[in-house]
Amino acid sequence: LSHGSPEKEKTLAMIKPDGLFGNYTDEIKRVILHSGFSILKEMSIQLNEVNVRLFYAEHSKKSFFPSLVKYMTSGPVFVMILEKVNAIADWRALIGPTDASKAKVTHPDSIRAICGLDLERNCVHGSDSPQSAAREISFFFGDTLSSGFKLFGASYI
Ligand code: TYD
Ligand code: MG
Repeated sequence: LSHGSPEKEKTLAMIKPDGLFGNYTDEIKRVILHSGFSILKEMSIQLNEVNVRLFYAEHSKKSFFPSLVKYMTSGPVFVMILEKVNAIADWRALIGPTDASKAKVTHPDSIRAICGLDLERNCVHGSDSPQSAAREISFFFGDTLSSGFKLFGASYI
């Protein structure tokens, strides 16, 4: 497709427990809409340990994993499907680097710099590739067969 308007792309955005505890949801949604994204779907959910282990399976062998699971189950998260041209890279750019404490120095206007705290408590998530976006969107918003299994035991709020 070399002609016409560029294809829109979808990505999964998540406000993590520290973002919800800090009451950053409305501010983050304002930034999202101001930056040209549409929010196609959204949901609040309390994940359990099994849900988080599946979501972050790629990190399961890392030393930080047990702490990450504890943090990600410490309160509800707010997940959204965002859509726009170049949504995946643009949302990653908007949230900034993984380590929120470094982001405060190098990317002070990024969402993680503003509402995050450190390498673990970095307030928001964004899919890092088209493959992760497809997997993560189906994780939370897929049909009941795929999503229902991965989210088994989670509480919808
Ligand atoms: P990662 O996928 O590397 O970062 P990102 O969220 O920017 O894609 O890691 C997933 C999450 O794991 C990250 O958001 C926070 C946590 N984490 C730690 O707690 N310690 C670490 O050393 C790393 C790399 C990540
Ligand atoms: Mg990642």
